[in-house]
This record gives sequence, structure tokens and C-alpha cells, in this order.
Amino acid sequence: MRATIIGNWKMNGLAADLEEIAAIRDAAASARASAAICPPATLIHRAAALCAGSALAIGGQDCHADASGAHTGDVSAAMLADAGATLVILGHSERRAHHGETDPLIRAKLVAAAHAGLRPILCVGETETERDAGDTLRVLAGQIEGAHAEEVATEALLVAYEPVWAIGTGRVPTRDQIAEAHGEIRARLTALRGAGAADIPLLYGGSMKPENAAAILEVENVNGGLIGGASLRAADFNRILAAA
Ligand code: PGA
Repeated sequence: MRATIIGNWKMNGLAADLEEIAAIRDAAASARASAAICPPATLIHRAAALCAGSALAIGGQDCHADASGAHTGDVSAAMLADAGATLVILGHSERRAHHGETDPLIRAKLVAAAHAGLRPILCVGETETERDAGDTLRVLAGQIEGAHAEEVATEALLVAYEPVWAIGTGRVPTRDQIAEAHGEIRARLTALRGAGAADIPLLYGGSMKPENAAAILEVENVNGGLIGGASLRAADFNRILAAA
């Protein structure tokens, strides 16, 4: 399967940083991998306009579970789509930890994304405490099953394995640990969705950099990456894109 490399800008990026997106767009035109950037919501409209008709897709980082209503400060999936997004990250560990997001809420957001025509990128991953307790595979299975929604077409879904202890820390799991986690995720998705789950892109995320991208992308069942820090500068992100 063609690799998918997605950048998660988190709460970073002002209008001046659109030039990074333009440089990524230009590199995406000749990349073997498919590419997307998820900038903050304030930049989605301009980023999407900049990338219209190009190989670089633009995504959101979260959406509300409701289509509209009295939710001050929130953004709906339809609003993201209206601004030009085609994907949305859901269930990122920072949202689980800082905003109390639970599997049932994340599931509702996946349904909202599907109704708006967005491809959801479901994020799953264990904390360091859970790994040390030997609970990693059980946690991943629970997150995959807890967010499962029939409304989301198998062809629309992407899943990112992001061990919480590897995000922004410079620590990366071993290739065996990544293979084990991705194998479990593939197995759970296959149990829920059947043979079509073989084509769901499984992205690795957590301190993926130009220096380690090629080795991670070789691991079985790794079909791409979700990149935080190294997606903010086109020079770094484009090197990962070139490695894919
Ligand atoms: P990182 O973040 O690449 O900065 O570790 C990844 C993520 O949180 O998606």
C-alpha cells in the first residue's frame, strides 16, 4: 500500500507559516507517499486554498460530535469540511489527557466526521504506566473496539498508533514493539471489519524524525507516519516524505 505521511501541527502556526505548507505542497507533487498537514483550525481555510488541486491534503485536529449548536468555542466536522479539510485527527492522546475524551465520545466524533465526508484518523496508544504493567495490547484493543463505528466506511478510516510516552519525548519504541502494536491493531480491525481492514493505513506516531523515518516505515503493518514536531518545518517534513 502507498505510504501516508501526515503532519499534526498541534497548537502551532500563524499565517506566516503558510509558506511551510506551500513548500510541503510542492514536495508532495513528486512524492511517492500521499501527504497531508493538519494545521490549527484558524489556518485550515487558507491552507486548503493554497493546496487546492494539489497532492497535499489538509485536515483538522479535532471536531465536535454534534453537527451544530450551542457549543461555544467548538468546531464541527461540517465546518472543517466547509473550510476545505478532507481529514480529521480524532482521539489524540493530548485530547484524551487534557480534555477528558473517552472512547464513547471519540466514537461519536468519528460518526460526525463520516457524516461530514471527512476521513477520520483515529489515534490510539498506551501510556508508559500501561506499557510497564504489560497492558499495551489490551489498551489498544479497548481503544479500537471502543471507537468502532459502522457509519465509518473501512475505506475512509486511518488509524495512528502513538505510544503516549513517545510523543514529543525523542523516545521511540523498538521495531519489535511497533510491529507487535500494529499487528494487534490490524487483528482487531480485521475482527471488526473483515478482510477489507488489510487496506486501512496504520500510521506510526511519536518522535518520528527524518533520521528514524525510513527504519520505522519498513516495519510490518506500518503504512505511514503521524508527525508532530518534525512537521512544522518543510525541510524536516519533506525529508520524511522522501524516505517514504
Ligand atoms: P511528535 O508528535 O512527532 O512531536 O512526537 C506526534 C503526535 O503527537 O502526533
